[in-house]
Amino acid sequence: MIDAYQASSQARVNAALDPLFVAPSPEMNRLYEAMRYSVMNGGKRVRPLLAYAACEALGASAEQANGAACAVELIHAYSLVHDDLPAMDDDDLRRGQPTTHKAFDEAYAILAGDGLQSLAFSALLDPRLSSVNAEIRLRMVTTLAQAAGPAGMVGGQAIDMGSVSLKLDQKALEHMHRHKTGALIEAAVQLGALASGRAQPAQLAALQTYSQAIGLAFQVQDDILDVESDTATLGKRQGADIARDKPTYPALLGLDAAKAYALELRDQALAALRPFDAAAEPLRNLARYIVERRH
Ligand code: IPE
Ligand code: IPE
Ligand code: MG
Ligand code: MG
Ligand code: MG
Repeated sequence: MIDAYQASSQARVNAALDPLFVAPSPEMNRLYEAMRYSVMNGGKRVRPLLAYAACEALGASAEQANGAACAVELIHAYSLVHDDLPAMDDDDLRRGQPTTHKAFDEAYAILAGDGLQSLAFSALLDPRLSSVNAEIRLRMVTTLAQAAGPAGMVGGQAIDMGSVSLKLDQKALEHMHRHKTGALIEAAVQLGALASGRAQPAQLAALQTYSQAIGLAFQVQDDILDVESDTATLGKRQGADIARDKPTYPALLGLDAAKAYALELRDQALAALRPFDAAAEPLRNLARYIVERRH
């Protein structure tokens, strides 16, 4: 499913992430181990791939987006560690391995998540990971802070926690998904584009339309996979949403309509990329991948 472009982008972000997990003093070894465990554990790296592909769509080299790619994956990894805690989704399996609070303990899972969040902003500001000027960098930090924070992903997670056993209508479900998952995916694309150092306002607007569609499609597909995949393929427990009575697209619309909706969103995303040339092909392929993926 992952093509050669995606595999080389995964290798690029993994190489940039790896040096971040070296403890500055021995008492912090376990904390840094917990952070490394939570990140360097085989995630699909969809958000870094989007950052690289957006940067390349604007004609810059993917390496320019290393800071953006690391930052979005670090925020994502932190969100998963906290999402899996007993106080939230209470999951034991993530990326095919015990969740961080199972492999370490809850205190270390909380601290590892906190640490990863700070490392994300450091990565964005690290001149070794991208060479954009201070004005663009400030814009990138603002974009990530808004997307990850209480008006973005954290807000979406709060809506999720408050929605267990509720029957949300489609508008409310979409509102939740756009925040808990869509916001960071939108940020990944915007950050990658900004990292090119040459993004024009009209291009940023078109990329935002693209990313809003795939951001929602990504969570619709995540909900679909919870129903029809299996635990070994997913690397996380299949049926967890149903067991916890979470509001999801398949629960609201039925599986077939949820699948049709994901495809419609993919087409909206592809339409938004029409003004772009062949350099946007990786972004187009990612839109297809997001709704075709099996895990
Ligand atoms: C899972 O994200 C959580 C959601 C926001 C739906 P991914 O499916 O990207 O998880 P990894 O990073 O590949 O493990
Ligand atoms: C997670 O959504 C979204 C964030 C972590 C922000 P889910 O709870 O659906 O993710 P999975 O299914 O556990 O990966
Ligand atoms: Mg959750
Ligand atoms: Mg979860
Ligand atoms: Mg899920």
